[in-house]
Amino acid sequence: MKYQNKRIMKQKIGIIGAGNIGRTVAAHLLKAGYEVVLSNSRNPETLADTIETLGAGAVAATTKEAASADIVLLALPWAQLSSLKKLTDWNDKTVIDATNHFITYAPDFKLADLNGRASSEVVAEHVPGANVVKAFNTLYFKILQRDPQEANGRRVLFYSGDDSGAKAEVQHLIDDIGFAPVDLGDLATGSKLQQPKGAVATLNLIKAA
Ligand SMILES: NC(=O)c1ccc[n+]([C@@H]2O[C@H](COP(=O)([O-])OP(=O)(O)OC[C@H]3O[C@@H](n4cnc5c(N)ncnc54)[C@H](OP(=O)(O)O)[C@@H]3O)[C@@H](O)[C@H]2O)c1
Repeated sequence: MKYQNKRIMKQKIGIIGAGNIGRTVAAHLLKAGYEVVLSNSRNPETLADTIETLGAGAVAATTKEAASADIVLLALPWAQLSSLKKLTDWNDKTVIDATNHFITYAPDFKLADLNGRASSEVVAEHVPGANVVKAFNTLYFKILQRDPQEANGRRVLFYSGDDSGAKAEVQHLIDDIGFAPVDLGDLATGSKLQQPKGAVATLNLIKAA
């Protein structure tokens, strides 16, 4: 069997939204050898400094190009979700939803009215046919930025979703970048636990080794 470079074998992750969360997750992915395609609402050239800071393996692209990656991470503001639908054929794509449904930020942090639905169920309507897995949304980015190895254990990242294959991919990815994945069940149940005001929102846990 031919020698194959492990880095080359890892998936390409498209990131839509290159702010606090997009850049933070990108840094963890790059460290573990993934290729990362970052996009924002503007021209990819506006991400030149971000790409330089992130280093090898990071590229800037349009949102359409980021959406065509193997796995796509949503890290854009809630109010911008409607821009996603036409970016690609979302059918069967694994989409990681890191968004929270804030419609205003500090000091009032107003949440969108979801009519009792889980926020990721609403997100799923904007990426029709995709296998949505909620993850990377529960921790403040400055905590998520830290080394996931802490106090003889690994920082917990929760995930939830309806498709077992997509969940397995995200579980592997979380594990591969050094965090401890914890499955919270299906999207309707898990997203409600993970989203703002949910039981595990902001919970910073270390799973003992
Ligand atoms: N901050 C946290 O600690 C945290 C934690 C968990 C979850 N979240 C959630 O993660 C999401 C991102 O938060 P953030 O703090 O990273 O926000 P942020 O720092 O304000 O960054 C937002 C990013 O999204 C981009 N963007 C805006 N509209 C877009 C569009 N239509 N298409 C593509 N990209 C677009 C922005 O690009 P431009 O610069 O071009 O506008 C920017 O790169 C939000 O849903 C938030 O609730 C945040």
